[in-house]
Amino acid sequence: MKIRVLGSAAGGGCPQWNCACRNCRGARDGSVRIEPRTQECVAVSADGEAWFLLNASPEIRAQIEGFPALHARRLRDSPVQGIVLTNGDLDHTLGLLCLRESHPLVVYATEPVRRGFVESNVLYRTLQRFPGQVSWRTLRAGAEVELWKDGGDPSGLSIEALAVPGKLPVHLEGLGLVPDACDNVGLRIRERGSRRALVYLSAVGRLTPEVLSAAERADCLFFDGTFWSEEELRELGASEKRASDMAHLPIGGVGGSLAALSGVGAARRIYIHLNNTNPVLREDSAERAAVERAGWEVARDGMEIAL
Ligand code: MLT
Ligand code: MN
Ligand code: ZN
Repeated sequence: MKIRVLGSAAGGGCPQWNCACRNCRGARDGSVRIEPRTQECVAVSADGEAWFLLNASPEIRAQIEGFPALHARRLRDSPVQGIVLTNGDLDHTLGLLCLRESHPLVVYATEPVRRGFVESNVLYRTLQRFPGQVSWRTLRAGAEVELWKDGGDPSGLSIEALAVPGKLPVHLEGLGLVPDACDNVGLRIRERGSRRALVYLSAVGRLTPEVLSAAERADCLFFDGTFWSEEELRELGASEKRASDMAHLPIGGVGGSLAALSGVGAARRIYIHLNNTNPVLREDSAERAAVERAGWEVARDGMEIAL
């Protein structure tokens, strides 16, 4: 399986348009050792021809242009054969609306994520320009499904959704929607004929036995790297919200993912969905050193992995 990180940051990216925190400033003026990052999106493929996107970031146009394997090969065409959504957050779904140039799209999502995107969303009409513009394929927790190519051939990849503690997207809060175990999912992706698994957990509110067991069965693990600490945004004065209010398990600290996942043996362990405030983004920070000492990597835009 070929894996290409198109975007590695959390919502807002780094630098974020309305932020001048140390990291965002440093990413602009070079005063800090930090790489700019776009918002989370990862492309996967079995054959290097048919590609699937994990989430659709608002920066999808530039992300596609920045990776030649995703360029159109004919007048109207795309190597992107499907888009898999892990939740309905805007940093994961706004890109769908950016792909509105009358191209058929196949979107894999759980039913609550589909509903949250299409219901009461007048902008979704831009993806209803012709019958069948979007084909939704339902993901159910624990059920492995094939990813299909345009022509109806199997792509060689299969995917299983894993229910992971998360929360409703911010824009759906307060509407009386009943939270569902599949509002947020992780993904286990395998290539036919291979026993190796990519486990993709970019939003994890807390550890459950299921999350732990999925992480333990991974050969390549992407994990929620939004925040280093529970109080990161509050200490900076950027927001009143704690990491747990936003359903993101921090990396550091006693209950953090670095400690909790210390027994995970995946050959590649990579933090993704990195918020611009996170000190692990600074290449010379103590937090980056701690993560790397423990055998973890910090995702970068353009990172490629062969699994
Ligand atoms: C998150 O990852 O928690 C969300 O993207 C936050 C948001 O939508 O602002
Ligand atoms: Mn996010
Ligand atoms: Zn910032």
